[in-house]
Amino acid sequence: MGIRPITRRLTAAVALAALAAAPAAAAVLPNPGPGVRVRKEINSLTPLQIEAFRAGVARMQARPASDPTSWLYQANIHGYPLSSGICPVTPGGPLPAWGTCTHGTFFFLPWHRMYLYFFERILRKAVREAVGDPNYEFSLPYWDYQLHPDLPAPLRVPAQASNALYVQQRSVVCNAGLPCVPPPISSSAVALGLPEFCDCPMGAASCIGCERYPHSFLAFGSRQAGQGNGHGQLEFQPHDLVHVVVGGVQRGWMGYVECAARDPAFYLHHGNIDRLWQVWLNLGLGLHANPLENDDWKNREFVFFDENGQQVTMTGCDVLDTAAQLDYAYDGVPVQNVVRCEDVGGAGADGGFGAAAAFEEPEILGTSEPVAVELGNTPVTVTVPLSEEANQRILAVAGPDPGRVLLDIADIEVLNAGAVYGVYLEVPAGQTPDPQGPHFAGNLGIFVDLRHQHPQARGYDITEEVQALYERSRWSAPLSVTFVRATGQELGDPDRFLRIGRISVSVH
Ligand code: C2O
Repeated sequence: MGIRPITRRLTAAVALAALAAAPAAAAVLPNPGPGVRVRKEINSLTPLQIEAFRAGVARMQARPASDPTSWLYQANIHGYPLSSGICPVTPGGPLPAWGTCTHGTFFFLPWHRMYLYFFERILRKAVREAVGDPNYEFSLPYWDYQLHPDLPAPLRVPAQASNALYVQQRSVVCNAGLPCVPPPISSSAVALGLPEFCDCPMGAASCIGCERYPHSFLAFGSRQAGQGNGHGQLEFQPHDLVHVVVGGVQRGWMGYVECAARDPAFYLHHGNIDRLWQVWLNLGLGLHANPLENDDWKNREFVFFDENGQQVTMTGCDVLDTAAQLDYAYDGVPVQNVVRCEDVGGAGADGGFGAAAAFEEPEILGTSEPVAVELGNTPVTVTVPLSEEANQRILAVAGPDPGRVLLDIADIEVLNAGAVYGVYLEVPAGQTPDPQGPHFAGNLGIFVDLRHQHPQARGYDITEEVQALYERSRWSAPLSVTFVRATGQELGDPDRFLRIGRISVSVH
């Protein structure tokens, strides 16, 4: 079946990923090349650079919302609210390109790269005007929360309107400088260890036809079509989860697609996500690749505005090599393993993997009753019935048989934003679940999109967890799944955050 077999045991790749994600002390790009600017981790900026950054943001914020180079217009390109429940409606909208961000599809990474690129050009010009130096070198910094779990100090100190990088509409824990993005939430190890950009069946070489495949979390870069659970692993974690925790439980802006880009933290967060895209390409011994077999991914045009307020369009092909095409790179992350569109020629929409090509649907082995369980501040356990036969099948796949064991959580509704849950399997009574321990399957959290409030689904590859539990004699049927709030309860928290409808186990 397989054209390029997926390594089921991703341990080596994950170890590589962990290495790559580890701090490269005071890293600078070895040789960024002439004209290539380096985007740096914000904690390594000098106080003067921070002041310049702030002054540029303040300048954009002072512009009227009808000006495409203003803070509000730029934020509204990402998303804009239809009512003022979370952030205020901008009168006079919507204007061209507003609300065009893409989530849950394989345009997620390229669209946000383009968006950041033009935002940075606008901000650079604003910084130069503010400091009165037309040649001032400015690059957008990023926030590496794996290194620094606390919200960068310039965004929260001083906590007043004079600080253009501060907003009050955030998690109070983040704004207090506490480590609000702890390691189980900030980790990109699972995403960086995945070999495929798109959610394809085992062994498929391209994205074509993969829109039918329900398990986008097995891929790095989200799925081709955007229905249901389209979030790829990187988009899910760390991307979505960082939005959730920085937004916090008091309806902060970062937690909502429509308001997130009004918070300066948004651009630092997306700098990091954009950086991780290149980190992923640099891993995998040249096997990690962008979906260049897909013409839509390469050629679809998106609209932005440049630093002179001129409307511009960009495509995926324009943003593959950040150093050569966009004149930037990230500190310590060489731009390698980048294949440009002109290097592959016109593969055509088929790309060698016909849309009609068959692949195996996952085999569902057990599903909980429709549960409608509400997750609040105390742990909740749901039981998934498994026949003895189903159990043997799961153990075989977790052991010698090929395939993966998958846990799916479906029909998820957001009752209140701001909470992330750890998902644990078979927690023994009385034991405190540990995200470092063998019972931990992953996290659950939803970045709220008020425009598209259909029930969400999230999934987890639990192959290795099942194996580890079995070896410790901790695995048994039925399967119990426990949800535990991953960040501490705060005073005044709502008593419920998510409602989940169904949990199932399948093998694929
Ligand atoms: Cu378009 Cu982090 O979101």
